Amino acid sequence: MATPQSHADQLKAQAAQAALKFVQEGQIVGVGTGSTVNFFIEALASMKHDIAGAVSSSEASTARLKAHGIEVHELNNVSDLPVYIDGADEIDAHLRMVKGGGGALTREKIIAAVAQKFVCIADSSKQVGRLGGFPVPVEVIPMARSYVARQIVQLGGDPVWRQGFVTDNGNLILDIHNFDILDPVQLEQQLNNIVGVVTNGLFAQRGANIALIASPDGIIQLGK
Ligand code: A5P
Repeated sequence: MATPQSHADQLKAQAAQAALKFVQEGQIVGVGTGSTVNFFIEALASMKHDIAGAVSSSEASTARLKAHGIEVHELNNVSDLPVYIDGADEIDAHLRMVKGGGGALTREKIIAAVAQKFVCIADSSKQVGRLGGFPVPVEVIPMARSYVARQIVQLGGDPVWRQGFVTDNGNLILDIHNFDILDPVQLEQQLNNIVGVVTNGLFAQRGANIALIASPDGIIQLGK
């Protein structure tokens, strides 16, 4: 494994390494997106001959997996996915998350839906008492951007178009600032009900089953 540079990177690498014990031999592994997952992909390469390959939540992760010699399968050809490993931008005590800082939220949510177990890997800076300090990303169909933004203002958020960014699905991202999130499940549903929204970065209806939080005192496991 490459030597982690910063203290935050060291913690991310520790969380990633700890996730290996949830990878089942002979099975396909769901792989998320982001800097923490990049450490997981490196770690996973050490056992690539023991797994049946991976399904990937982004073109970026797919490229990294392939570069490490890990076979990447089409999700449509996979009916049984024991575990999905991914990071988070925020995670609360109920293992609900904000995700999508890297813009891969839709594919991440699809794989999370298929997986039996979602294992979130994060450093302790991602733990929050209440979700929403990190802007909630919303993936939108391009022609619906302004309409969706107006609807989100009515829900109490301040949408900001992530300019110059196009998702792997050819869509746009609105980052929603200043949401007062009292009920993450309800807000997730409300956002998804807006016509033109593909999905949003609240992972509350289907949160993580397990969180591996790396802190200076070691790895804390939440959930089971
Ligand atoms: C990618 O779209 C995101 O959901 C990531 O999982 C999330 O942003 C965490 O990324 P880092 O591990 O880089 O913090």
